[in-house]
Amino acid sequence: MATRAVRVVTPNKALDRPGIRGNGGNRSRAGRSAPNREPGKAGDLVEFRRLASHEVELHRDLRLRALRDAQDSFGETFTDAAVRPISYWEELTRSVTEPGRDVMFLACEGKDVLGSAYGLLDRACSDSGRVGGMWVGRAWRRRGVGRALLQEVISWGRERRLRRLGLWAPAHNPAAIALYSRAGFRSTGDQRELATNPALSIIAMEVEL
Ligand SMILES: CC(C)(COP(=O)(O)OP(=O)(O)OC[C@H]1O[C@@H](n2cnc3c(N)ncnc32)[C@H](O)[C@@H]1OP(=O)(O)O)[C@@H](O)C(=O)NCCC(=O)NCCS
Repeated sequence: MATRAVRVVTPNKALDRPGIRGNGGNRSRAGRSAPNREPGKAGDLVEFRRLASHEVELHRDLRLRALRDAQDSFGETFTDAAVRPISYWEELTRSVTEPGRDVMFLACEGKDVLGSAYGLLDRACSDSGRVGGMWVGRAWRRRGVGRALLQEVISWGRERRLRRLGLWAPAHNPAAIALYSRAGFRSTGDQRELATNPALSIIAMEVEL
């Protein structure tokens, strides 16, 4: 797979915890930092790559970081995920790294992982897929990282000759709804309770590829 690099605005790192460091599996280009740039100006080069099969611990750390940070955005809680055995993460990592299966994209600056997203095959419908686990660290938001991660999943779906991609978006999260709408996703009209908080709801969105 071709690895893409996208230039984004330099983040306010004071907003975030230290980045999670991966070991660069499948990396074909190195990101580079550009400190002291003003917000709004061209900034850091962010690289997009797939999770590698040996990056089980990185996978777990990233997922837990996303669940802790964005509690009402996903269908499982940090508490539940944190106690899962390592065998769970090993199988999940296999499912997104073995050829022909699902995939996980990482946004990286050097060895720091800034965000991630899954491309998932729809078991019930062979020409459809889903976007899952979309997350960008707080210091890097509103800089185009989420849009670029989504584009990676869309490109993967097209390579797989999928006809459509679906997802469930938190109805209470305007950033997520706007991100997906800007990329062409439209509400299907389906809505359901968020599994981890029935007071909130998620809406189904879909795009034709
Ligand atoms: C949703 C999320 C992934 C967006 O990531 P991001 O890197 O900030 O998004 P981008 O900078 O690429 O923004 C792309 C577009 O999305 C929209 N958008 C993103 N954040 C927005 C916000 N806070 N308010 C309004 N629109 C927003 C804008 O249209 C934006 O384009 P623009 O900047 O040209 O106007 C990020 O906010 C996040 O991780 N949230 C917590 C986890 C989550 O909710 N995930 C979604 C689960 S379905």
